[in-house]
Amino acid sequence: MHQHRRFNYDSLEQLKNDIQCLGVKIPLSEDIEVLKQPIKIGDKTIPNPLAIHPMEGCDGTSDGKPDELTFRRYDRFSKGGAGLIWLEATAVVPEGRANPRQLYICRENKSDFQALYDRIIKNASDTYSFTYKPYTVLQLTHSGRYSKPDGKPASMIATQNPYLEGSLSKNYRMITDDELEMLEDRFVQAAVIASEIGFDAVDIKSCHGYLNSELLSAFTREGRYGGSFENRTRFLLNIVDKIKARLGSKIDITLRLNAYDAVPYPYGWGVSRDDFHKPDLSEPIKLVKILYEKGVRLVNLSSGNPYYNPHVGRPYDNGLYTPPQHPLEGIANMLGIARQIQQAVPDMAVIATTFSWLREYAVNVAAGGIKEGWFKLAGFGRQALAYPDFAKDIFEAGAMERGKCCTVCSNCTVIMRDGGKTGCVIKDSKVYGPIYKQGREGKPPIRMDTTVSEHL
Ligand SMILES: Cc1cc2nc3c(=O)[nH]c(=O)nc-3n(C[C@H](O)[C@H](O)[C@H](O)COP(=O)(O)O)c2cc1C
Repeated sequence: MHQHRRFNYDSLEQLKNDIQCLGVKIPLSEDIEVLKQPIKIGDKTIPNPLAIHPMEGCDGTSDGKPDELTFRRYDRFSKGGAGLIWLEATAVVPEGRANPRQLYICRENKSDFQALYDRIIKNASDTYSFTYKPYTVLQLTHSGRYSKPDGKPASMIATQNPYLEGSLSKNYRMITDDELEMLEDRFVQAAVIASEIGFDAVDIKSCHGYLNSELLSAFTREGRYGGSFENRTRFLLNIVDKIKARLGSKIDITLRLNAYDAVPYPYGWGVSRDDFHKPDLSEPIKLVKILYEKGVRLVNLSSGNPYYNPHVGRPYDNGLYTPPQHPLEGIANMLGIARQIQQAVPDMAVIATTFSWLREYAVNVAAGGIKEGWFKLAGFGRQALAYPDFAKDIFEAGAMERGKCCTVCSNCTVIMRDGGKTGCVIKDSKVYGPIYKQGREGKPPIRMDTTVSEHL
């Protein structure tokens, strides 16, 4: 691995040189026409392969309805031209909320979610054309280990994990098999409401160490949901089967899937048993094949755990510690994972994650990856908070503007950890600058020179 370095490229040539010097594989194309091509998902069409990833704003009401800043965020996204808008982590039960302002989907909140959905669709058609409609996904979740429904940690874990013990609240408890079975039905109820509202798809969130992600790595759990591959995937596959049985083809089912946890075996999923620094995708590929057979046609891949090893899933310039690798190595790893899964299940539409660090050259990497068959869609996370109309600029000006790009400073994550409503502190500073400052009051500054943990 090479030393971490901040982004400092002034031309695509310089980026290409560094890719070559580091010996990593990252696809690049100067021809970006492919980014204008629609994608078919079953009988639906995604107008273009640029996707906005789920990004929690922690700004709902205390009872889980979207609030003013939630509407503002999706107004910005839906006017921005991305073909797919993946709505953020939305709890299916109140005790599974990650913070007291996380969205919560239930009958009582349905009309507020309907208003949010209607605004997204109207903004898009008002901005582009009457027939223009982004594909919309609602991410359904239980926060498991990271549950904090009243602002205080109230962890509900699926398995013991010595690497993540620091994240456990004193009052944590292990979720039982019977509770998991009942929870499957709450995901189904949430999917029914999402389908009535009109969302194209629901995501059974399976990433970043939250409950269902943890179940995939529950090698040491006993009972029906732990140990074997069949048991560890039972919760997810039962939910898929139950939604299919209840709703048929009324709503698509998809998932944000961690393909690689980067935590040692037997506590991490998608890792080589000898060396957790290397992915072993045999189980993730097996799972994606089963999902395809069950009718799933879209998966959004991610990696790592934002509370434990955030550099793995979201390469940054500034953050809580100095990552043990060059960001381009992390990016090559994420893209390589997408490529292996896309090539193993060629008819599945794979969304790759990792584009924000690349600033305006993300356009070339996205186009290169799609042209060369590494993935079918490119998803943007932090970039969308900083620069919500990046897609519009790509289509209208043929490029993204450096001055509008995300600086991967991690301040959006810092606000979240400080308990605030989050967004881009730098490019949307009028709204989020004061929130950031308020959250930091009395706290030590974030320093990159922290020693890197040996586990990373
Ligand atoms: C403030 C913030 C909120 C996020 N919320 C979610 C979420 O609700 N669901 C999810 O799957 N990922 C979430 N993520 C992760 C992003 O979707 C994305 O995977 C990550 O930022 C890496 O993509 P990027 O490099 O384009 O930013 C969040 C990330 C940040 C910084």
